[in-house]
Amino acid sequence: MTNPYTGRVAGTVAVPTPAQIEAAVAAAHAVLDEAAALPAHVRAEALAHTSRRLDERSEEIARVITAESGKPLKWSRGEVSRAVSVFRWAAEEVRRDSGQMQRLDTDPTGEGRVALIRRVPKGAVLGISPFNFPLNLVAHKIAPAIAVGAPIVLKPAPATPMTALLLGEILAETNLPGGMVSVLPMANESAASLLTDERLPVISFTGGQFGWELQKRAPHKHVTLELGGNAAAVVLADADLDWAAQRIALFGNHQAGQVCIGVQRVIVADAVYDDFVAKLVARVEELVTGDPADPATEVGPLINEAAAIRVVEWVEEAVADGAKLLTGGRRDGVTVSPAVLADAPADSKVVREEIFGPVLVLQRVSGVDEAFAQVNDSDFGLQAGVFTTDLRVAFRAHRELQVGGVVIGDVPAFRADQMPYGGVKKSGVGKEGLRPAMDDLTYERVMVLTGVQL
Ligand code: SIN
Repeated sequence: MTNPYTGRVAGTVAVPTPAQIEAAVAAAHAVLDEAAALPAHVRAEALAHTSRRLDERSEEIARVITAESGKPLKWSRGEVSRAVSVFRWAAEEVRRDSGQMQRLDTDPTGEGRVALIRRVPKGAVLGISPFNFPLNLVAHKIAPAIAVGAPIVLKPAPATPMTALLLGEILAETNLPGGMVSVLPMANESAASLLTDERLPVISFTGGQFGWELQKRAPHKHVTLELGGNAAAVVLADADLDWAAQRIALFGNHQAGQVCIGVQRVIVADAVYDDFVAKLVARVEELVTGDPADPATEVGPLINEAAAIRVVEWVEEAVADGAKLLTGGRRDGVTVSPAVLADAPADSKVVREEIFGPVLVLQRVSGVDEAFAQVNDSDFGLQAGVFTTDLRVAFRAHRELQVGGVVIGDVPAFRADQMPYGGVKKSGVGKEGLRPAMDDLTYERVMVLTGVQL
């Protein structure tokens, strides 16, 4: 693996042979019944152990994340602490889960009957995770699978398998049965046969628009897709402009903008536009860019040079079409200086597509109506942020914005890991977050008891 920033080797990884891939899938299939029957305390303890060990090894793991992905160490450390909480939370969910009892005597035909409802795994899971959160988005695949007793075969992003393998090493210390979790650091092409393998009836995918192609290839499977977007932050006239500028500058650019819910479109009310833009540009220019291994760095490199070249091309294309570049947008190898664009044409790629780079695109609007219309004028709908102090506007945003999550008073990039997380439109289908993912990986099976009374 190559460190994107230094260009030096970050580590080496053994790639599984076709026979080893087959062995992992066969083992997941073979352990299905045993996994589903694991007592709650066994699943919970495996998850809790993983959480503890991630915590104990947090600095080592954060440095591996930084080495293989170029993520600034500051954010890698944050990512490890999120994964610690994802596994801890999953352990807690396991212990809370007792199924449901439902009375059926609500109509005469149900008299003397009671329903017990339990959730049963839909089957073994194929998890496919992206490079931008090499640990935590793997955690969001594996933790809920273990929690519900579903075996999982995890394919990490080809650029960032080392962190996923470290997590695999920790999971191997638990008393989960063999075959329950496999981490297969293989090329995307080698995974093609897994998409249609009937022994893996559930696919949980986080990544780009390829997800829709994947869904087409596996029409009979249960597929969850988290596919990113061009997230908007709305700054209304009553917002705290300093706070909004600081948050948008940071969370449009941290991880070099490679976050599905990172701010891309900045929709600003006319009344505060000039004031806000001056503050935003100043905050963006203060961001500490450079070596991701330096704990002070806030913006590091993109994942590779091709990504950096594409981002700058999109910025230049917008400028050629009339946009004004207020700051940044220069490439130095794999690094792009954080850019702010104004007046980009509504049909430019920087507005319409997911840029996945350190670029903020300003849009001036007259007020709430136009702001919300702009947010919804997108093929995507993952999360949106609205900077306002008016509770009525907050409720209206929650009602009207076509996204999976609305963050009031902060950026769309805010995510608490237990929250339902997932988008609408081209941003995907299904939800992650612990409980929602556990529901997604299982179906409800009802048992009706006859001749009983509550
Ligand atoms: C993502 O980029 O898909 C995940 C964002 C997050 O978990 O913060």
